[in-house]
Amino acid sequence: MLAETNTAAIVGIAIPAVIILGLIVIGVSALKSPRKDVGSLDPRAVKKDEARRRADEARKLAEQEPAAPASALATREPGEVAVPEAPVPDVYAPEITVPPDPVEVGIERRRVLNRMAIAGSGLGLLALGGASVAFLIPPPPKGFGGKIVVSTPLDEIKASIEDNQTPFYAPEAKTWIELYEPSDEAIAETTYPAIWGAVQETGVMPLYQKCPHLGCKVPFCDTSQWFECPCHGSQYNAAGEKKGGPAPRGMDRFEFELDNGLLVIDTGKLVEGPPVGTDTTGQVAEGPHCV
Ligand code: FES
Repeated sequence: MLAETNTAAIVGIAIPAVIILGLIVIGVSALKSPRKDVGSLDPRAVKKDEARRRADEARKLAEQEPAAPASALATREPGEVAVPEAPVPDVYAPEITVPPDPVEVGIERRRVLNRMAIAGSGLGLLALGGASVAFLIPPPPKGFGGKIVVSTPLDEIKASIEDNQTPFYAPEAKTWIELYEPSDEAIAETTYPAIWGAVQETGVMPLYQKCPHLGCKVPFCDTSQWFECPCHGSQYNAAGEKKGGPAPRGMDRFEFELDNGLLVIDTGKLVEGPPVGTDTTGQVAEGPHCV
């Protein structure tokens, strides 16, 4: 139990720590990685340069117009408008690159950092909360107190009971398993409604070994074919219904089910024994009592 608690505590602390650490690493990597747009042309600057270049070309053309060669003027017909030669693009003009604004870059980085810090904190808190809840929820009990699968198949259990004329004992469930044949099924169903379906399906009744008087383990008496408690003499028939002694009720039992031929006894779900006076089998003592 202590080992399980320590493991759960370690997991509860380790998961958020790993997540937060991972987010920090991602954030630092993002800050260190160069921006993809660093060094590229600013579209606004490109437009501005283009406009400036066109204006220069127009100005040059305007300056060249009056200085047209005399031969050209001579060959021009009266009224003919001079058509300027198309400007030759300056393919060797150097590309103008605009470096990113360091202020904007800084703002962008801070924005990314802030978002990552918020996301990291949220995820960390979420993981911490989940781990805490998981830590607080107890795992289903293993062994007695939880569901116990009786390893001996039901068919073999019933055969053993018939052959030995004694109930089958399942120590891991602290339970006696006895054949159950009620004299009146309607009364039996009313008496044991919580487990009646499983009783009908299997034909057996699981009885908690603990005496409902003061808790002694109740053994089976082979001669009387009853359960008889050595501590104060309480007696119960084979169905665990009280027949004598100081016990306040019949023997308690557990909810159970049949799974692939195996009995699964839920020792976490106790069904209180029937009240004094209950007798669903009519079984009388078949021999001398043990107590
Ligand atoms: S503990 Fe069984 S009769 Fe008292």
